[in-house]
Amino acid sequence: MKRRIGILTSGGDCPGLNAAIRGVTRAAYEMFDAEIIGIHDGYRGLIEGDYHAMKRSDFSGILTLGGTILGTARTPFRNMRVIGEDKVDKVAAMKKTYKDLKLDCLVTLGGNGTHKTANLLSQEGLNVIGLPKTIDNDLYGTDFTFGFHTAMDIATEVIDRIHTTAASHGRCMVIEIMGNKAGWLTLYSGVAGGADAILIPEIPYDMKQVAKVVEQRAKSNKGFTIIAVAEGAMTTEEAKMKKKEREAKRAAEHFSSSAYVAQQLRDLVGVEARAVVPGHIQRGGSPSAYDRVLSTQFGVHAAELIRDETYGVTVALKGNTITHNRLEDIAGVPKLVPEDDQMVTIARQMGISFGSKE
Ligand code: F6P
Repeated sequence: MKRRIGILTSGGDCPGLNAAIRGVTRAAYEMFDAEIIGIHDGYRGLIEGDYHAMKRSDFSGILTLGGTILGTARTPFRNMRVIGEDKVDKVAAMKKTYKDLKLDCLVTLGGNGTHKTANLLSQEGLNVIGLPKTIDNDLYGTDFTFGFHTAMDIATEVIDRIHTTAASHGRCMVIEIMGNKAGWLTLYSGVAGGADAILIPEIPYDMKQVAKVVEQRAKSNKGFTIIAVAEGAMTTEEAKMKKKEREAKRAAEHFSSSAYVAQQLRDLVGVEARAVVPGHIQRGGSPSAYDRVLSTQFGVHAAELIRDETYGVTVALKGNTITHNRLEDIAGVPKLVPEDDQMVTIARQMGISFGSKE
């Protein structure tokens, strides 16, 4: 049995991409006669016909490597059917590359945007299999995406290290965790790092409630406060605004979410507050052991699906089981933190504030 497999990584990079590429390809080489074509920089490479044939040795020594050996790019789904100034019909171009390469299937590693385009290509008749990656963990149908746990470990270490300075100086430290729409990373690293308040996009916060946390900590002689705030966290007033209006407000104020919270706390409580933005550090470097295992499990399951010619699906983790979902059932459905999520309840039971009226 022979299979020609195109593989690409799309969207923001994250730890575990190379481990997943290795998982798919090694298992494919073991299971059947596999030929692998590495497509460069995600869908850009598929549109422009930018790729190279790979060999078994190309997948050696990449288990622990961060980033992606294939390169990646953001090619927004909303533009896929839009013909721009270059007059390129992107969907037709992707189908042509697939056909010219005589591929049996295309494996796409990515998050929400990647899966929307994967579904589009599947509906256009290509054999597509997705693998769920993102540090945001916001892909519907899987308990965890790979990359999330590594980012959580990094964000937690940042909070731990900030803790010592906060305690020594008696300061309020506001740490901005990645996640524009989804607060999973802030929620989990906030709990792991022992934050006093966790502010996430899904639960709009009231600055007065956050100020109360700082005041209560001061009264109880703790003298310092740790706040984990998601990149996309918003106040109750901001939550009522349209997205464009909210973005314009933020742009005009030149505030990141952490800078805004720190500034407000200085004004409202008169506390010494600092904003810390670890940024892309959270996405960098070697995957954690957990993510190496998960990426390998996902990769091997993708190879099984190729062997069995099960296409139009994406790999998923449900409980302790590696399984798959139909692309059409999950594409475009974001997985946000529900207000009654068990981890939110646990955090609340631990006395952690979400800046809302708990
Ligand atoms: O989707 C992963 C992510 O890191 C988000 O948490 C963040 O909002 C976004 O990507 C940042 O995107 P970029 O790397 O393009 O600045």
